[in-house]
Amino acid sequence: MRIILLGPPGAGKGTQAKMLKERFGIPQVSTGDILRKAAQDNTELGRQAKILMDAGKLVQDDTVIGVIRGRIAQEDCRNGFVLDGFPRTIVQAEKLMDTLKDMNLSVDAVVDFVVDGQALVKRLTGRRTCSDCGAMYHETSRPPKIGDICDACGAPLYQREDDKEETIKRRLEVYRSETAPLKEFYRKQGNLKTIQGHGSAEEVFSRVCSMVT
Ligand code: AP5
Repeated sequence: MRIILLGPPGAGKGTQAKMLKERFGIPQVSTGDILRKAAQDNTELGRQAKILMDAGKLVQDDTVIGVIRGRIAQEDCRNGFVLDGFPRTIVQAEKLMDTLKDMNLSVDAVVDFVVDGQALVKRLTGRRTCSDCGAMYHETSRPPKIGDICDACGAPLYQREDDKEETIKRRLEVYRSETAPLKEFYRKQGNLKTIQGHGSAEEVFSRVCSMVT
């Protein structure tokens, strides 16, 4: 199963990608996570990406396309993957199509999450992420049991640098101008599935499953 998750920042792509990974045993391929790991490791790619990410801007198409090509060629992606945060521009979508064609593969579903702007800001400003295992929390809707400590592994939680209100505004603008046109791109190809992203993560997940299976 090869699935693309679309939607604005905070729509729940990462949350749903993790649930799909658990349910169907396919890897979550998140360009955001890959770039944040590179920044944490202080690689050349990571240092350059961090400047753009912290400013709420997109990383260059060529860079992320290169990252994705390498990642989906890996063994664990053989039986499928969930793309979370890629593609994000028309150029990226076209290059992905070419890459999959070369590999004799296609995408089974493109899921677009619809969530209103106010809810997005609330979700992002309250998000906390585990610094070790990547588990995700929210200060009100999914708080950890003890302080700012991950329930799963005990590591400290942190707030993403780009989850500040000003940067969120910028990310939403970038989404509207660069990424939202992908809906039309995939609608024309006949595999766009639009899902309401409101309700609990479990409710959203059951909608996703009914669309992709
Ligand atoms: P990326 O990491 O991809 O961020 P994003 O797309 O902005 O998405 P988010 O991770 O913020 O939100 P999400 O939709 O995954 O929601 P989540 O499940 O976490 O990208 C970051 C940056 O990297 C970009 O700005 C760019 O610079 C760069 N980048 C990445 N990919 C790129 C590309 N392809 N090209 C160029 N640049 C790229 O949920 C958010 C919060 O809401 C959590 O707290 C969660 O617990 C909560 N929540 C989730 N679902 C629900 C629910 N149903 N109800 C209540 N709360 C919920």
